[in-house]
Amino acid sequence: MFDFQPDPAQPKPEMYRELVESARALTHGEHDGVANMANLAALVWQFLPALNWAGFYRVVDGELVLGPFVGKPACIRIPFGQGVCGAAAASGQTQLVPDVHAFPGHIACDAASRSELVVPVLRDGTVIAVIDLDSPEPARFDAEDAAGIEALARAVADLI
Ligand code: SME
Repeated sequence: MFDFQPDPAQPKPEMYRELVESARALTHGEHDGVANMANLAALVWQFLPALNWAGFYRVVDGELVLGPFVGKPACIRIPFGQGVCGAAAASGQTQLVPDVHAFPGHIACDAASRSELVVPVLRDGTVIAVIDLDSPEPARFDAEDAAGIEALARAVADLI
């Protein structure tokens, strides 16, 4: 049994250090990428308050394809360059979007989403997936969240 108990009162950098440590423990010795992504999505959901979607899109044959997640059913395929996820995949850069309605081309998978953080997962310099987090709260994510999820992406890049 995995019984991670994040402290909701701890500062974000500490919470993300704990999240990354937990992610390493959760994936230790397991090479099945789907299993690892499923557990990682559940772990992020457990650690981060105020999310309505948390999961992965994988790069498959030059486009993003839905991977394991927690949240409402979502759009399955996203071309590079489209929406927030496609922008992260095309640029290789984290996308921190305080107001999704102000982001040109945002793809609404859940009408409740107000802000979004998408972090590319790079292996050997190539984007292999993105981690997508959505929140019903405007401006839910800040630079500390971006840095924390980027650390998670680096930690799991060879495990998904
Ligand atoms: N909003 C994303 C699409 C994925 S869903 O949020 C799960 C986007 O604009 O790329």
